[in-house]
Amino acid sequence: MGIAADIRNDWNAALAALAWQVDLGVSEVVQDAPQNSFDLPDAAPWTRRMAEPAAAPAPAAPPRRGQAEPARPLSVGADPVRVATDLARACLTLESLRTAMQDFDLCELKKGARNTVFADGNPAARVLILGEAPGREEDQEGRPFVGRAGQLLDRMFAAIGLSRGSADRGTALYITNVMPWRPPGNRDPEPAEIAMMRPFVERHIALANPDVIVTVGNTPLEALTGQRGILAARGTWVEAFGKPLMPMTHPAYLLRNPAAKREAWADLLAIKAKLR
Ligand code: URA
Repeated sequence: MGIAADIRNDWNAALAALAWQVDLGVSEVVQDAPQNSFDLPDAAPWTRRMAEPAAAPAPAAPPRRGQAEPARPLSVGADPVRVATDLARACLTLESLRTAMQDFDLCELKKGARNTVFADGNPAARVLILGEAPGREEDQEGRPFVGRAGQLLDRMFAAIGLSRGSADRGTALYITNVMPWRPPGNRDPEPAEIAMMRPFVERHIALANPDVIVTVGNTPLEALTGQRGILAARGTWVEAFGKPLMPMTHPAYLLRNPAAKREAWADLLAIKAKLR
């Protein structure tokens, strides 16, 4: 029996083949066409799905007279920024915003993501940290900044007495991203993707209502202020949505360039001073 036939018939052989690929360094499965993970049934063992031919979808029953038509999918031509703006404006709580973002289907990135990564920490915190987009660990866990860069972020803010686990708004952090879905291969989000998620970010900040915003890296700074070039911008207070904003370099950059941690420390001290 060939390897392919083994894999098709034997769960253990399939697992061993997968482990072998992970050992080789494979971290992504890229298909020819994006697969919408949000459409997969919750409990569908892969073995059964591989063995059974896909059932033809049952034809939808026509609505009976007097019965409301089922909601139509958004038309192909819908302007994603307009739709996002209307949806975000209608959200009066963070929970309704989370639901609206989870239900927003006009961003292609959602199709390749496992989770909608909404936020973490204390929504009442005085400090809101805005990152770029989830990476692999964040996509798997459904929480922002849980990988190596996130651990550094936690250590940096702990050094000025702030943590996402704090119940006290004065010492708490609230953390979110411009993009709630992981871009494939951790590529930068595209301008059109950022533009359609920006209304949700704006609403997110309005609802959390922090005293201070901290952006980490280029993408969130540009999304909020239009300003490019984090290395020149970092360390100088600017304003976004009427709130003071401190641009900082991304912790992933600091992991690659430890010498830049000295400047990041100065930025942290400036944040601490602003909160006094
Ligand atoms: N980088 C980000 O910008 N956000 C995350 O959540 C993780 C890594």
